[in-house]
Amino acid sequence: MAAQINPSILSADFARLADEAKAVEGADWLHVDVMDNHFVPNLTLGVPIVESLSRATDIPLDCHLMIEDPDRWAPQYVEAGAGSVTFHAEAAAAPVRTAREIRAKGARASMALKPATPIEPYEDLLPELDMLLIMTVEPGFGGQSFLDIMLPKIRRTRQLIAKHGLELWLQVDGGVSASTIERCAEAGADVFVAGSAVYNTDDPAAAVRMLRHQADEATAKAPWACAH
Ligand code: DX5
Ligand code: ZN
Repeated sequence: MAAQINPSILSADFARLADEAKAVEGADWLHVDVMDNHFVPNLTLGVPIVESLSRATDIPLDCHLMIEDPDRWAPQYVEAGAGSVTFHAEAAAAPVRTAREIRAKGARASMALKPATPIEPYEDLLPELDMLLIMTVEPGFGGQSFLDIMLPKIRRTRQLIAKHGLELWLQVDGGVSASTIERCAEAGADVFVAGSAVYNTDDPAAAVRMLRHQADEATAKAPWACAH
């Protein structure tokens, strides 16, 4: 699978979301960061804006819920038009039930891990998921520096995916840019969220193409991909 690049609209102009979606034409997914000021110390947007945005763009929406009680809210984001819904392992009381509800409503189910949350306790849950998100910064804000200490977790997760023969996508989010994306791809990521590295440029669509090219080149040389 070619590397997928998901621009994060957290770094876009919230007053011009439809135009900002057009500015990244060719992106695989549009990454929508939902923050509730409780799970993370920042507040962004909710169901009504996701609903409007899904009508305003053909790019599928990848909703990253950084909220408390995702068990209750996640299905509503599918109904609002999200093609993929990610809840945090640290916030979910019933991750298996929530993942099944997301899938039953017709979206891809995904679970995220904060930097201090290990993957190992979730090994048996992986078949319930379509994607796993490894945060490469502490969630809450765009523009933070990439945490290199997350690379071993990405490698171990890629090994678990291979061990179980899963079709699970492995997403990274936080500090992904031209200078860090190759390390992520080499370690095993295949879906890349990029906020500031896409929107803080003169040509966001070109930034998406550049990042995808870099990721594809790094993946081609990666041992985990050669074994396929
Ligand atoms: C941070 C969000 C990210 C954020 C990434 O908590 O989950 O999606 O937008 O922004 P950059 O790419 O600038 O680190
Ligand atoms: Zn995010």
